Amino acid sequence: MGNERQIFLQHIAQTSPAPLMLEIERAEGIYLYAKDGTRYIDGISGIAVSNVGHSHPRVVDAVCRQASRYMHLMVYGEFIETPQVQYAAALCALLPPQLQNVYFTNSGAEATEGAMKLAKRHTGRTEIIAFKNSYHGSTQGALSIIGSERFKQNYRPLLPGIRQLRYGVLDDLVHITQNTAAVFFEPIQAESGITMPDKHYVQALRERCTLTGALLVFDEAQTAFGRTGAMFAMEHFEVTPDILLLAKALGGGMPLGAFISSKEIMQSLAHRPALGHITTFGGHPVCCAAGLAALEVLQTENLIAHAETKGALLHNLLAPANIPISRAGMMFAMHFQNENMCRSVISECLRRGLLTDWFLFAPASMRIALPLTVTHAQLNAVADIILQSIRSCQTN
Ligand SMILES: Cc1ncc(COP(=O)(O)O)c(C=O)c1O
Repeated sequence: MGNERQIFLQHIAQTSPAPLMLEIERAEGIYLYAKDGTRYIDGISGIAVSNVGHSHPRVVDAVCRQASRYMHLMVYGEFIETPQVQYAAALCALLPPQLQNVYFTNSGAEATEGAMKLAKRHTGRTEIIAFKNSYHGSTQGALSIIGSERFKQNYRPLLPGIRQLRYGVLDDLVHITQNTAAVFFEPIQAESGITMPDKHYVQALRERCTLTGALLVFDEAQTAFGRTGAMFAMEHFEVTPDILLLAKALGGGMPLGAFISSKEIMQSLAHRPALGHITTFGGHPVCCAAGLAALEVLQTENLIAHAETKGALLHNLLAPANIPISRAGMMFAMHFQNENMCRSVISECLRRGLLTDWFLFAPASMRIALPLTVTHAQLNAVADIILQSIRSCQTN
């Protein structure tokens, strides 16, 4: 085997201007262990994926056991595969009556695609509404609705009939009309640097969708599974969408997404023509087994109940830095004065053994989304690294 760094640069497609290029040999709990012996704290959970930490023994065990029984058998929706059935039942037990029918996909973007198609089929309408600074994935359909012109401009023509509203602005809701098939909404917007909408606004959004017959879609790819201190972020607003999108932590570290709706709405994909959404690997049995095990870990280790207390502790520990923070549970954004300062702090944190990141649409803000399994002692260590890094960047 040649030099892996060279092969990575030569033969792995590069899209990042500055890949981190850490060579990780092993990951466990909140830690990533590099080949050169360095230990890093994963301060971003692989971007909101590893909520139960890396290589949790129950998740690893579920993966191994399912892989030894069977892996891929047949394309989606034909065979009764126990891991899929069990995971769907476990998710539905946590969800309201309007969300009891699960379509498992490979990814968040595929969940977005499926939901866009479902909304068009169910309503017979074509317009899709989404929000400025929203992110729903990088495939052509998902890209068409995201709220960043910079990311979209070189890929036009994209889907027609897309309208962007300002996130959290009540007056804009009048643009949701009887032409609108669906409104895609992150109940807490992630890539803008953690933006929390007002509860009354989210309720007004629900009312406007009900009034006009537009389907309300909540994209909880980043916010579900305890990240914000509740199983699902929608609980903070006491609002139920017509379609729920899940991904990231859904697979417990394996690739999995889902769009979830009522049986009645989902039926639209089953006729004229049938097979309204097709996927070979969506709902892969090993991924569903891993996801179910991760969900059980969240529940048995009481991780969701502690997410808010842990978040509040870290928030307090970071207060001496005097940097504005947006936070929902264990989902943090630290807002620096400019992009350079943010990048310097991120580099300094990494040098001191803590992996953080910026946000797609908020490059001056630092992302912190630790595994929910993090201990209080580990949170103290994380805060020390961040405070020291900020101090060192301020004096340089
Ligand atoms: C809110 C949201 N929706 C959808 C996606 C797309 O998920 P995936 O990368 O699995 O396609 C992401 C990914 O970051 C996301 O944050």
